[in-house]
Amino acid sequence: MRERFKKKQIYTNVGTIIISINPYCNLGLYTPEVIHDYQYRGVKEMPPHVFNTAHDSYKGITDFGTPQSIIISGESGAGKTEATKQCLTYLAAIAGSVDNVETKILQANPILEAFGNAKTVRNDNSSRFGKYMEVYFDSNQKICGATTTNYLLEKIRVVATNQGERNFHVFYQMVKAADQATRTRTQLCNSCSDYTYLAGSGCIDVPTLDDNYDWTALNDGMRILNFKSSDQEAVFDTVAAILNLGKNNKHIFYGSTIHSYSLTNNFNTFRPVEMLVFIG
Ligand SMILES: Nc1ncnc2c1ncn2[C@@H]1O[C@H](COP(=O)(O)OP(=O)(O)OP(=O)(O)O)[C@@H](O)[C@H]1O
Ligand SMILES: [Mg+2]
Repeated sequence: MRERFKKKQIYTNVGTIIISINPYCNLGLYTPEVIHDYQYRGVKEMPPHVFNTAHDSYKGITDFGTPQSIIISGESGAGKTEATKQCLTYLAAIAGSVDNVETKILQANPILEAFGNAKTVRNDNSSRFGKYMEVYFDSNQKICGATTTNYLLEKIRVVATNQGERNFHVFYQMVKAADQATRTRTQLCNSCSDYTYLAGSGCIDVPTLDDNYDWTALNDGMRILNFKSSDQEAVFDTVAAILNLGKNNKHIFYGSTIHSYSLTNNFNTFRPVEMLVFIG
């Protein structure tokens, strides 16, 4: 595998298992031309690739009518999330979809990643949750829907972020890029350094992450997935409220349990976003 990797062959087949070594660079392996080759030249002719796995799964459904599972596992930073995206992109390209549902499936990524991914010492975009995704095909073998189940979200990160790591992406995206109306409504500070939950770990900017761009992608994703604007506002109000709670150091949450807190008796001193979480 080392020899293959040196020749930029990052994929190796072992029976029906495919082993992938993360190249940490763009090797041009996922272009529309490559998808076309795997679709039409056949998996026997083409070298090992994650597209082979997606292709075989699709054939299992179309040719034999049996449900298929793809299990993607590996250590943090191995490339699981990227491999998942490549599988979905390939399936969407070769199967097509009903009502462009594949666009919606892919648009869910910026939302899931904003709220569930964070920079760690191992991976600038580390998924801090597990994901089980089901993709459904109709009788014409087109993608007609998908459900995603998330589990084991690392909630502790919100209040206790290791040195050199970051909190969940959405906090930085919102503070850096929210529009003026949102800032005024949520009484948002202008700088991440103003917030204990963001400044405490000593890492705010990450060269490989564009928080402004990702904020736009998050909002676009919510719109495409038909979030009501009132729901969208409620979500961002909550994000701002969590930041403000940390700032004033009034509550310390661990999971769903409040371990320690000190509240003033004078509720008038709470700003609206703080009251939102306190009451809720
Ligand atoms: N096939 C690939 N080609 C090029 N770069 C890749 C590839 N796979 C992963 N990477 C790079 O490695 C980074 C880490 O990959 P990824 O986020 O998929 O890891 P992961 O296994 O999901 O880790 P975690 O368990 O921390 O979520 C990506 O952000 C990307 O920059
Ligand atoms: Mg991941």
